[in-house]
Amino acid sequence: MGFSFFYTLAIVFFPSEDFRKEANVKNSTLFEEAAQDREAFWAKQAECLDWFKPWDQVLDWKPPYAKWFVGGKLNACYNCLDRHMGTSTQNKTALIWEGERGEEKSITYEELYAEVNQFSQALKKLGIRKGDKVAIYLPMIPEAVVAMLSCARIGAVHTVVFAGFSAESLKDRMVDAEAKLLITADGGFRKGKLLPLKEMADQALKAVPTVQNVVVVRHTQQPIALTSGRDHWYDHLIGEAPTECPPESMDAEDELFILYTSGTTGKPKGIVHTTGGYLVGATMTTQWVFDAKPSDIYWCTADVGWITGHSYVAYGPLANGMTQLLYEGAPDFPERNRFWKLIEKYGVTILYTAPTAIRTFMKWGEEWPQGCDLSSLRLLGSVGEPINPEAWAWYHQHIGGGRCPIVDTWWQTETGSIMISPIPGVTPLKPGSATFPLPGIDAKIVDEAGQPQTSGYLTIASPWPSMLRGVHRDPARYEKTYWKNGSYFTGDGAKLDEDGYFWLMGRVDDVINVSGHRLGTMEIESALVDHRSVAEAAAIAIPHPIKGQTIVAFVTPKEKASFQPGFEEELKLHVAQIIGSFAKPERIIFINDLPKTRSGKIMRRLLRDIAEGRVAGDTTTLADPSVMEQIKAKYQED
Ligand code: PRX
Repeated sequence: MGFSFFYTLAIVFFPSEDFRKEANVKNSTLFEEAAQDREAFWAKQAECLDWFKPWDQVLDWKPPYAKWFVGGKLNACYNCLDRHMGTSTQNKTALIWEGERGEEKSITYEELYAEVNQFSQALKKLGIRKGDKVAIYLPMIPEAVVAMLSCARIGAVHTVVFAGFSAESLKDRMVDAEAKLLITADGGFRKGKLLPLKEMADQALKAVPTVQNVVVVRHTQQPIALTSGRDHWYDHLIGEAPTECPPESMDAEDELFILYTSGTTGKPKGIVHTTGGYLVGATMTTQWVFDAKPSDIYWCTADVGWITGHSYVAYGPLANGMTQLLYEGAPDFPERNRFWKLIEKYGVTILYTAPTAIRTFMKWGEEWPQGCDLSSLRLLGSVGEPINPEAWAWYHQHIGGGRCPIVDTWWQTETGSIMISPIPGVTPLKPGSATFPLPGIDAKIVDEAGQPQTSGYLTIASPWPSMLRGVHRDPARYEKTYWKNGSYFTGDGAKLDEDGYFWLMGRVDDVINVSGHRLGTMEIESALVDHRSVAEAAAIAIPHPIKGQTIVAFVTPKEKASFQPGFEEELKLHVAQIIGSFAKPERIIFINDLPKTRSGKIMRRLLRDIAEGRVAGDTTTLADPSVMEQIKAKYQED
């Protein structure tokens, strides 16, 4: 994947004087301070938080292990809630929630504080203590945020599992995390349908002996089964709980959460984030990149099940006392203007969404946003994959009315907070480029040997506060996957243009990105070969005009009978059951043999050549080069 128009696009959008004048960051001072002394710079930024005890040392760096704000004590929930009490934020709306069927709820900071205190007490009553792991499997409802903050308050480590994941995926994550408790709901809503979350949770829990208690949020009111002694209604627990729960004093380096993400093997990795550094990153980037103001109505459309929902729904906006919108539902329910109706209704000022959504809106046509008043918007954001300049231009014109800067934010689950992005009052924008590393972020593009280049691997050469601290229970994988030549290896390719702008070129490994969902090709392959009739499978990603990338799988079945019609659908469903329906391959091609080297390595590169209609690369190392013709014929015929 790449941008052929890379150097040719000359349009640069400069921040308007009006925007700059009011912006949180108006000039390049932050960049200069960071360049002068990175550690001193981060120490100054860390003052944005309330600390119970100041740190003794800013950074302890024993590559590849970093400790930030060593000896400092704080609590993430305290920084999102308690410190706003007694200020003008106390009575301000923290969360506006709207459900797909139009239900509404509005919660002030004070109300959120009260509910979090009660739920924290409830968790304690169920035996949850500092360091315990709590899994969260909830739809986009305020209780998801309450659950995360309550864990943080008592020092429990949350691991949120996206509600689109299957029972099998939920089970794997709970087992790996050794979760002691699960917070779920009776169900969720999506496109008018009910998601059977509790049913899935029950199925998953059969194989998770560590979970002793399950908290169930009453949301859809659908009938569900409760296991007596194990399952508890959230509202009952809250009703009985004391109203105050003192926040636990956490070490800056105590774990805040584990979030599972896909890598290049079949097994997702539990990315570990700690308290102090993570919160400094999430809080400050919200101020710089989203230009957070007390008057904003902010809307990040990401689910709390992904890192974006952690840093830019739960922690960053609340630490900054922002008012934000949460929407549980689809963008085309009941009609294709639902997002624009929401913006009009609540006067949203900042919208943060994904390129795949923008391309879908483009396909639906500008008549949908045109019918709504979007004049409240002042800033737009994009995340998850490179935004192609056409989508950028459409977003800018039809959603932003030509007046809103677009912050194209590059970052990862592992980086914890935004790394490369415009700062809207300062950075001249080039559509399709994430522009420059943020202050304090030492991003470098290098070759295999670690030498600086204008095109190559994107790396981060110095530690930063919100960086991952490890892979849960797998230090070897942390060291091997992420660290090369003393630098953090992102797995992304990038280019620098003549003005020093960074252009992200997509992954250089077997990680793919379908509609902003990160997946490993190996994960899909493991799900396919898990089917009793599959002998071998190779999954590849090919470019897709809306989803960014889409999955094509090549499968060799075990039995002839498996070629029967309907088998393709059955296999797709199997992948949905193992991972989640967002991981379903778009096409499955059944073949007799995969292109393999003499040592048995599957040459996915050659499959990509076929799928993208290119002349196949070097096939001389193949054990049987004739398979290429057969696969090609099969690919074209299907
Ligand atoms: O390939 C990059 C792409 O998404 C990957 C990270 O995925 P995940 O950990 O799920 O986090 C997504 C949300 C932060 C990256 O390695 N990516 C993310 N944002 C961008 C991007 N690629 C290009 N431009 C972006 N703005």
